[in-house]
Amino acid sequence: MTRSISTTFIIFAVLLLAACEADRMSEKGFSLPPGNAMSGREAFVYMHCHECHTVVGEELPALTGTAPPFVELGGKVTRVKTYGELVTSIINPSHKLARGYPLEVITNDGQSRMPVYNGYMTVQELIDIVAFLQPHYDVFVPQYNYRIYP
Ligand code: HEC
Repeated sequence: MTRSISTTFIIFAVLLLAACEADRMSEKGFSLPPGNAMSGREAFVYMHCHECHTVVGEELPALTGTAPPFVELGGKVTRVKTYGELVTSIINPSHKLARGYPLEVITNDGQSRMPVYNGYMTVQELIDIVAFLQPHYDVFVPQYNYRIYP
């Protein structure tokens, strides 16, 4: 009896610990202060993000001597692109790869071809870049053709 109680307790404690451990990695409570989209655009160009990216609705200065950009940012998405997702795409590019591109185009050895800027992009630049990019995503509701059965 005592043994089964202590076993139950141990199992319970282990589950609880596992839950706490998962919680520690939660993005809950994460919040960015408002950014400046204009400065974000400048930082985007200054860091040559447009070497690989077009931004829907933005005319960005052409870069000479580089291959044309191949990953589009912004545009129509079926659900809100949150700033959490954008921040993650920038500081942890391989975490979740952009959808709709062949893997051989966007990855190298299974990792995103996007460089990691964490060593020199300031937090302010990150905030501003996200403020610049976020409004370029346009949420649309896909239209389904319903068939009405009589
Ligand atoms: C050398 C090319 C390259 C450069 C330079 C580059 N990226 Fe990327 N980026 C990629 C590739 C490839 C992907 C798609 C794979 C992925 O999701 O990481 C990507 C994905 C992204 C995504 C996610 C897109 C989606 O639809 O999920 C964002 C946001 C992004 N980049 C922002 C930036 C910003 C901001 C900069 C500049 C600070 C930058 N990138 C510079 C190659 C690049």
